[in-house]
Amino acid sequence: MILVTGGAGFIGSNFVLDWLAENGEPVLNLDALTYAGNLETLETVMDDPRHVFVQGNICDRNLLDGVLEKYRPRAIVHFAAESHVDRSIHGPGEFIHTNIEGTFTLLEAARAYWNMLEGTERESFRFLHVSTDEVYGSLQMDDAPFTEENPYQPNSPYAASKAASDHLARAWFHTYGLPVVTSNCSNNYGPFQFPEKLIPLTIVNAFAGKPLPVYGDGLNVRDWLYVGDHCRALRIVLSQGRPGQTYNVGGENEKTNIDIVRTVCTLLDELWPDDAAGRRDRLITFVTDRPGHDRRYAINAKKIRQELGWRPAETFESGLRKTVQWYLAHPRWVADVQSGAYRDWLAVQYGMANDMM
Ligand code: NAD
Ligand code: TYD
Repeated sequence: MILVTGGAGFIGSNFVLDWLAENGEPVLNLDALTYAGNLETLETVMDDPRHVFVQGNICDRNLLDGVLEKYRPRAIVHFAAESHVDRSIHGPGEFIHTNIEGTFTLLEAARAYWNMLEGTERESFRFLHVSTDEVYGSLQMDDAPFTEENPYQPNSPYAASKAASDHLARAWFHTYGLPVVTSNCSNNYGPFQFPEKLIPLTIVNAFAGKPLPVYGDGLNVRDWLYVGDHCRALRIVLSQGRPGQTYNVGGENEKTNIDIVRTVCTLLDELWPDDAAGRRDRLITFVTDRPGHDRRYAINAKKIRQELGWRPAETFESGLRKTVQWYLAHPRWVADVQSGAYRDWLAVQYGMANDMM
């Protein structure tokens, strides 16, 4: 079996569901179930004997040693992290704890376990460290997209903590020979994303007739990748990626934030017209910019394309349409994640003055 950390979060749960559908090998899913982890997302596999869920923290070395010894996974796919830039600005401590100390603890547990393996079990073992393009910092509009050779220049506490975890993963390969492969992916979107990130927040607010907050001038650029394409990339990197290497993963699909918000509004107007209230773009509200807001991220995915034959299957148009349709079809999931804690976050980030609540 494989061990997945953070498999109750957005990308991790999509990965677990895809993995069981496409590959079928059993998965041990270790997740602390923070605000971002949700077992409802895994409802279809909770009784599946190929899926074992353990609630636990990657900072807990005893727990990690115990599950590794008991389940003897052939690989670890490491998603568990604090992942939201705005939360990292309000409270960086958790990011340092989980993303840096947690990754360190997991690497150490993996090293001890791997050292006890022999023969082909030892040779074929892999540690896939899932990271982000934000470690490379911010691009000017005319800069070339990030390659794996770009220097690390993280600007937010989130990006700095992920950069630190990437450095640890790299060092554990170079120093101890632990067979680590790292992937650095651009912004994901798709089903089961917590509505604190731009696309799901825009969908659920637009649907509910609430303001759509756009930071600054709305012209910041992100590269967007459908989560299913990311999951497929990770399966390929896990099976064919070379230890010690890093692979950039992205849609080569750059959009400004205001473009994204307008496109979501247009899709919702088409799929769920609100004739009485009118077009959803009336809800767009420019708000104070994020401190240190990176202007542009862009990915050069040539290495994974040429070396491993991966390319995205979804276009942005098809992926975004699927995503909006998914949120419209799953009001219970949305309502359940918009619990008390979610409302507390909206108050911290957007203030009580507006009617986002
Ligand atoms: P997420 O916030 O939706 O989910 C994170 C999951 O990790 C949650 O289920 C949470 O309960 C769990 N977790 C948090 N702290 C933990 C701990 N200490 N021990 C065990 N579990 C813990 O995040 P996501 O968007 O699914 O991102 C997953 C990974 O992919 C992260 O490492 C992130 O940096 C990376 N990534 C995300 C994106 C993106 O666009 N979302 C893009 C590139 C890379
Ligand atoms: P986000 O989804 O938080 O991802 P990241 O910061 O990791 O790229 O934000 C994507 C972009 O959207 C980013 O430039 C910030 C912007 N944004 C808004 O304009 N309004 C919002 O309410 C949020 C959450 C993000």
